[in-house]
Amino acid sequence: MIADKMKPVLVGAAAIARMFAEGDEQRKEFGADNVFDFSIGNPNVPAPPEVDTAIRHELDTEDPVFLHGYTPTAGYTDVREAVAAHLNNEFGAGYQMKDIIMTPGAGAALVATFYTLLDPGDDILVFAPYFLAYGNYAGMFGGRLTVVPPDTDTFQPDLSKMEELIGPRTKAVLINSPNNPSGVVYSAETLTAIAAVMEKKQKEFGHTIALISDEPYRELVYDADVEVPFVPDFYKNTIVEYSFSKTLSLPGDRIGYIAFTHGMDEEDDLIAAAGAAIVNMGITNAPSLTQRVAAQCLDFKVDVGIYKKNRDELMKGLSEIGYDFAEPQGAFYLFIKTPGGDDKKFCEVASKHHVLVSAGSSFGCPGYARVSYCVAYDTIVRSMPAFRKIWDEMA
Ligand SMILES: Cc1ncc(COP(=O)(O)O)c(C=O)c1O
Repeated sequence: MIADKMKPVLVGAAAIARMFAEGDEQRKEFGADNVFDFSIGNPNVPAPPEVDTAIRHELDTEDPVFLHGYTPTAGYTDVREAVAAHLNNEFGAGYQMKDIIMTPGAGAALVATFYTLLDPGDDILVFAPYFLAYGNYAGMFGGRLTVVPPDTDTFQPDLSKMEELIGPRTKAVLINSPNNPSGVVYSAETLTAIAAVMEKKQKEFGHTIALISDEPYRELVYDADVEVPFVPDFYKNTIVEYSFSKTLSLPGDRIGYIAFTHGMDEEDDLIAAAGAAIVNMGITNAPSLTQRVAAQCLDFKVDVGIYKKNRDELMKGLSEIGYDFAEPQGAFYLFIKTPGGDDKKFCEVASKHHVLVSAGSSFGCPGYARVSYCVAYDTIVRSMPAFRKIWDEMA
């Protein structure tokens, strides 16, 4: 009964379900304190107190019929206005209310954007390592990913390969900075170079190529000298996919937005199509209460000092053992080179020592593993003897 196109999707879904289940099974069998689960990007830092205040304020002051009712497809008008004003204030951008579409997180924002852009056989260019859901999202519309191989020295994009791989069916280039899984941030120079290649290719192929900027980790950076440049400043045809899942630690409340750069090619048609996509995907509108809460918390974020402390401890402990990695500047992942080179084997051996991490192959980058450090600090400290045993067995 099941469609052929779902068969490969099921394999990926089973792997993710397995990852969740493995943690639970091990916790049951060996006790929660003896399992070091670094496999999932589920924030462990609580939402800032302003989120609770905003929820209570909405419940206390809004008409419940309004608060829990359907909203316009693209979101409440005042919420979209607040998001546009926030972006304009923060980045000197020129958004209007109509450029913003509220979505249930970045995942839905990406799917709506792919639905809007892709005909069967179209292509999205991504840089490995990349978030594994992108391929499935594109596949829903007959689209494909073209993958620029990773530069494993820096995990910055390989621009000459990018230029080679953009073809006549490339509808968009998709970037994610700060990056899941490498944690690297693309510099202004890198974005300038990406934009230059894209301008050239737009001329060569005679059609617009969108730059999709997937930004769930925009505010999660750890060092004073690291700046996350605002991507639309570099390229007019940019579509930003934003999420409050990580910035406000609200992954289960499903809220984010798409921001279409004001004045981009075919802007009004794109916005209308993305709105229709939201309806056709069965989403109808982003959660109404969470839209209103997010609008009141645009200037707040979680305590990133907690993630920074985790990152520093993890880097210190793993480098003392001998593990190799590029220092992550943001997000909450460390992408380590797997001793012995076989990332799947590494994950198996790690699991035997009750350390759960994700294989780099799932991110288009074999030979590496992702360690999510959105966990209790104590988990990191106590996991080090196990990481040493894994090293001894694999190196
Ligand atoms: C790079 C990246 N994009 C998109 C998403 C989806 O996030 P959301 O919870 O906003 O749908 C994630 C979630 O982990 C992610 O890491």
